[in-house]
Amino acid sequence: MCGIIGITSNKPVITNIISSLKKLEYRGYDSAGIATLAKNFIDEVKCEGRVTKLEKICSKKSIEGIIGIGHVRWATHGVPNEVNAHPHSSENVSVVHNGIIENSTLLKKYLEKRGYIFKSQTDTEVITHLLSEFLKKNKLVAAIQKTLAKLHGSYALGILIKNHPDIIIGARRGSPLAVGYGHNENYLGSDSYALKAMTNRVSYLEDGDICIVKKDQVDFYNSNGKKINKKILELSDKNEEYQKGDFQTFMQKEIFEQPQTVKACINEYVDTLRDEINIYNLPWNLKEVKSICLIGCGTAYHACMMAKNWIENLTDIDVVTEIASEFRYKKNNFKKDNLYIFVSQSGETADTFAALELCKKNKMKTLGVVNVVESSIARSSNFVLPIHCGSEIGVASTKAFLGQMLVLYIFALQIGFLQKKLKKNDYKSKIKLLKKLPELIKKTMSVEADVQIIAKTFADSKGSMFLGRGLSYPIAMEGALKLKELCYVHAEGYPAGEMKHGPLALIEDGMPVVILAPRDKHYDKTLSNMQEVIARGAKVLLISNKGKEEISSDNLWKKILVENCSDELLPFLITLPLQMLALHAAKYKGYDIDKPRNLAKSVTVE
Ligand code: F6R
Repeated sequence: MCGIIGITSNKPVITNIISSLKKLEYRGYDSAGIATLAKNFIDEVKCEGRVTKLEKICSKKSIEGIIGIGHVRWATHGVPNEVNAHPHSSENVSVVHNGIIENSTLLKKYLEKRGYIFKSQTDTEVITHLLSEFLKKNKLVAAIQKTLAKLHGSYALGILIKNHPDIIIGARRGSPLAVGYGHNENYLGSDSYALKAMTNRVSYLEDGDICIVKKDQVDFYNSNGKKINKKILELSDKNEEYQKGDFQTFMQKEIFEQPQTVKACINEYVDTLRDEINIYNLPWNLKEVKSICLIGCGTAYHACMMAKNWIENLTDIDVVTEIASEFRYKKNNFKKDNLYIFVSQSGETADTFAALELCKKNKMKTLGVVNVVESSIARSSNFVLPIHCGSEIGVASTKAFLGQMLVLYIFALQIGFLQKKLKKNDYKSKIKLLKKLPELIKKTMSVEADVQIIAKTFADSKGSMFLGRGLSYPIAMEGALKLKELCYVHAEGYPAGEMKHGPLALIEDGMPVVILAPRDKHYDKTLSNMQEVIARGAKVLLISNKGKEEISSDNLWKKILVENCSDELLPFLITLPLQMLALHAAKYKGYDIDKPRNLAKSVTVE
């Protein structure tokens, strides 16, 4: 999604804006631009494509501004091209924007009647002209407030104004925005990741806030125009380096990091000497929770599906899962004993955040399971359980998925134990088994060589299916999602038992089908489903775990065996070959693995 950076300094800002834009590239984008203000002139440079192209264009010009804004755009209104790239500048005002202005068509008509000429097809350009209009007769803060009051929809904004050459204005409603504090310079950024290279001291804007950023001072106003103070937070890992190391892509690195990230997360939540879980200080009594609703999007939603199974198996609690974009607009029966859990790697997904705000408005108990601890969802939830897996840069979520599942599994054990549905001995023995998980993940990584060969068939196919039952069903969904997003081939995740009710008609000679059949209670039934697809000509890749009995079947195409572990933990292991399958299939096709087409890392518009 789009990314914003703003810098006001006592030295030229172009180099730092470009390198901050490079940091924002991971979000997924299709064009980029900057505007600086110098000698009473707004200098704008924009292009379609990558930040390196923008950098090349800028290097041929002399850009002296000591104040500037930059943007990477993920197109919503208007095709990705130079004209539609941000900033959108008039003679007096320059604007970068994340979000969507829903009433832009009406506002455009109103402004055109007043003589404003639009260059782009974007919704953002209305902000440039509206602000120019209000600045004619109003002081700065009043003009901004009047402009914002006209906008419907969501925004994070960075604004330069010719007549105020020492300030950058920021404003937020629905899209995240942060201010960073430096030495003789200050910053504006759509996420703290872009600011981390320059500072570890940040403040976050809340919805309705405006900020006026000077190089040596930052003023904040709330939605009523009242001046407010903001807490300055210290980010934990200013110098954390985001390098690929020996890997060709971040995604591959992130897959192979999973033994360490899972271990780090276990160490955060498990007292490994006493075999107990350390989740303290929750603002409500877990013994009293009667029902749970898990909410997320995409991969995070699949982690919710996993959690539903575990919590139902380990407690008597009623559990439902909700896709955030559906939940936020449907009728919900909010009940006071219900706990709402929001699962999100970025913590900024617009639909998940809106679902959280809706629950808060209805005074519900809210728990965030996030990776980015400074994110909007983390800050807004009553309580947060971070997944501790470090920055995830590849657009396709891998280590965060395992992290989400892990935290939710640990939470399920804890609630089962507290509600006395899980006996102390069982609780402790499950924790003992959990401690072995990082090593089992590490050993399972050796399947990569086989998966690499198998992946070519999936890359060349026109479609494939991923089937599983019970705990393997959400993993089948996740495996299919990974292949779709990275390899751009149709892939369908399905409960194996549902095949006969329609999808079996899709199976034809040579179609690759992944059967997830770990040796759990569904094993025999899933193998029967496997026979049904083999009988119809499917090329079956069976994914199971090592065991005493050899798995053999006539006409089985390929077999991958992960390490052996308890049934509850098998989903972690069978996920690994599926992540590798998508990665290598995309590699065969020569696609951009870390930035698949049309997708963004942080989905900050609905
Ligand atoms: C798929 C993927 C997406 C995200 C989804 C939610 O690989 O990454 O499906 O899981 O956009 O994102 P977060 O977890 O940031 O809320």
